[in-house]
Amino acid sequence: MLCSRSQRVFILVSLCLLSSFLLVVTGTTSNTGVGNEEVGGVEEWRTSVIERVIAEESGENSSLILAAKRTKRKDPNDNFKFYTGGWNISNSHYLTSVGYTAVPFIIIAVVWFVFFGLSLSLICLCYCCCARQPYGYSRVAYALSLILLISFTIAAIIGCIFLYTGQGKFHASTTDTLEYVVSQANLTSENLRNVSDYLNAAKKVDVQSSILPQDVLSSIDNIQGKINSSATTLSVKTMENQDKIQNVLDSMRLALVIIAAVMLFLAFIGFLLSIFGLQCLVYTLVILGWILVTVTFVLCGGFLLLHNVVGDTCVAMDQWVQNPTAHTALDDILPCVDNATARETLDRTKLVTYKLVNLLDNAISNMTNRNFPPQLRPLYYNQSGPLMPLLCNPFNADLSDHQCQPGEVHLNNATEVWKNFTCQIVTPGTCSTQGRLTPKLYSQMAAAVNVSYGLYKYGPFLADLQGCDFVRSTFTDIERDHCPGLKRYTQWIYVGLVVVSASVMSSLVFWVIYARERRHRVYTKDYNAMHSEDPRSKGQ
Ligand SMILES: *[C@@H]1O[C@H](CO)[C@@H](O)[C@H](O)[C@H]1NC(C)=O
Ligand SMILES: *[C@@H]1O[C@H](CO)[C@@H](O)[C@H](O)[C@H]1NC(C)=O
Ligand SMILES: *[C@@H]1O[C@H](CO)[C@@H](O)[C@H](O)[C@H]1NC(C)=O
Ligand SMILES: *[C@@H]1O[C@H](CO)[C@@H](O)[C@H](O)[C@H]1NC(C)=O
Ligand SMILES: *[C@@H]1O[C@H](CO)[C@@H](O)[C@H](O)[C@H]1NC(C)=O
Ligand SMILES: *[C@@H]1O[C@H](CO)[C@@H](O)[C@H](O)[C@H]1NC(C)=O
Ligand SMILES: *[C@@H]1O[C@H](CO)[C@@H](O)[C@H](O)[C@H]1NC(C)=O
Ligand SMILES: *[C@@H]1O[C@H](CO)[C@@H](O)[C@H](O)[C@H]1NC(C)=O
Ligand SMILES: *[C@@H]1O[C@H](CO)[C@@H](O)[C@H](O)[C@H]1NC(C)=O
Ligand SMILES: *[C@@H]1O[C@H](CO)[C@@H](O)[C@H](O)[C@H]1NC(C)=O
Ligand SMILES: *[C@@H]1O[C@H](CO)[C@@H](O)[C@H](O)[C@H]1NC(C)=O
Repeated sequence: MLCSRSQRVFILVSLCLLSSFLLVVTGTTSNTGVGNEEVGGVEEWRTSVIERVIAEESGENSSLILAAKRTKRKDPNDNFKFYTGGWNISNSHYLTSVGYTAVPFIIIAVVWFVFFGLSLSLICLCYCCCARQPYGYSRVAYALSLILLISFTIAAIIGCIFLYTGQGKFHASTTDTLEYVVSQANLTSENLRNVSDYLNAAKKVDVQSSILPQDVLSSIDNIQGKINSSATTLSVKTMENQDKIQNVLDSMRLALVIIAAVMLFLAFIGFLLSIFGLQCLVYTLVILGWILVTVTFVLCGGFLLLHNVVGDTCVAMDQWVQNPTAHTALDDILPCVDNATARETLDRTKLVTYKLVNLLDNAISNMTNRNFPPQLRPLYYNQSGPLMPLLCNPFNADLSDHQCQPGEVHLNNATEVWKNFTCQIVTPGTCSTQGRLTPKLYSQMAAAVNVSYGLYKYGPFLADLQGCDFVRSTFTDIERDHCPGLKRYTQWIYVGLVVVSASVMSSLVFWVIYARERRHRVYTKDYNAMHSEDPRSKGQ
């Protein structure tokens, strides 16, 4: 006979051994994953502080390896040597070394798939070939298998609830983060458009303008083109990527909800079927569960990977923010200039504002506010009436802030105030009503005011943009407000997946064991009943 009783026992024992082995392995991998992370975080913080101190002391802008401690992992693409390049998504070795962290789960999935598949075929073979034989039925084994079955089913249900909660929180957290980043990009794009609008005023000036020279006009046009295209690129790319990322997040959520629901259903139905001893259905479910458990183990690996990448990125962002002068891998992605260059930009915008306002004030005091005899033709255009207020210059000659004198108009409402001083024109070039500005002169001066005001208001923004101060503050906010949630919930999900996989895996084994024990119990009872009845009937 192919299957003796001892062989059957052997199969069951090996299943038990296999499942406990897998449990131990998953337990250790998830533990080390968590442990490393905590230790890594503290270590990282310490090294980053030390590095910063060293950098400050030596006053050098050295290059900095981002998240060096955290990312020190074995790289299968480099003979399993430790990868030391730090966080750098353009480096394939970083990607393979972080991908390698998912391997334990993939191995568990494969081992499970192969071994449980083999065990299933063996059981199947025995079931087909072996005649039913009575053998000793032990109350202890029966009770033990029932208790374990119930515990594993409860564990699976708890795991499913944990997974479901985790994915909900993860989805909310990622959506929040995404919205925050998009709103920051929106703000930048809106600012850029506003700058462009102010600069647009410059184009209303005649080519023959006496106020804005031709080369200034063409460079304004040039800058505006760049600003327009960055604003458009930024908003288009943001919207595109937001949609894409949101779609991925939504599909991920759907997949996890389905996994949690199916596993819950499986654990529950399997438990019921096993309790009622419907062996045929139990075996169908076991096959389904066998495949699903493999899938969830692979997913565990995926989420452990995601968890590690999120953790690395958060640490990398934090270190990048804290080491503004160091050269890092993020510099390849973000086109930031150093602080000095950004300040130079700011100073240049201030200088242009200062000069333009000076130019306007000279024009007012030397031309519009003076009454010329008609012989001085270009300066005389029959200007008359109350004097125009001077424009307040927001800067001194050394570019420090300047307080407005009483009677001066501010840049933001000069165009409004000056409008009252325009006259009407009948003969070209001559005021026929009271006023100090021809409409043409007014529009030129308003344009110059708009350019100055735009540069004055958005100069700091443009300098920040160039120096990535904006990105730094965004990263600081993400690191502070969003990273802890993202790290925690990716961990919840993979821990939930581990619990679900391990408990459903064990449940599968105990469905089979319990169903067999139950069958033997019934069989043995029948057998005993038959044998105890026989002598009686013979005796009568
Ligand atoms: C530091 O940065 C400045 C400006 O970016 C550069 O001129 C200088 O060479 C750098 N020093 C080192 C040691 O890299
Ligand atoms: C960003 O701007 C677009 C339109 O420009 C708008 O539809 C979207 O809701 C904005 N997003 C956020 C988060 O402010
Ligand atoms: C851009 O300009 C509009 C109208 O001029 C204003 O309402 C808006 O607040 C400005 N946006 C920023 C970011 O300054
Ligand atoms: C100046 O800029 C503002 C805001 O962009 C705009 O509303 C106004 O029409 C501009 N003025 C001129 C004369 O272009
Ligand atoms: C920039 O965009 C504004 C509208 O936002 C448009 O009026 C202007 O012509 C554009 N300038 C360039 C150089 O593309
Ligand atoms: C990041 O990786 C790329 C590709 O390997 C490499 O060229 C670059 O120098 C790396 N950056 C840093 C800061 O190590
Ligand atoms: C640049 O310098 C300014 C003023 O000194 C400072 O407030 C800002 O934080 C600096 N930015 C960076 C990135 O170091
Ligand atoms: C215009 O007026 C300023 C004072 O506002 C004076 O310094 C300058 O010399 C004058 N220029 C001419 C050409 O009159
Ligand atoms: C011009 O703006 C300043 C400050 O924004 C304000 O105090 C002043 O009342 C405004 N003047 C007019 C005429 O609107
Ligand atoms: C322009 O003149 C009218 C009437 O003379 C006055 O009511 C209005 O306040 C003036 N506007 C400004 C901005 O000074
Ligand atoms: C000059 O302006 C006054 C009003 O201030 C007007 O009465 C006179 O007709 C104007 N002269 C010419 C030649 O238009």
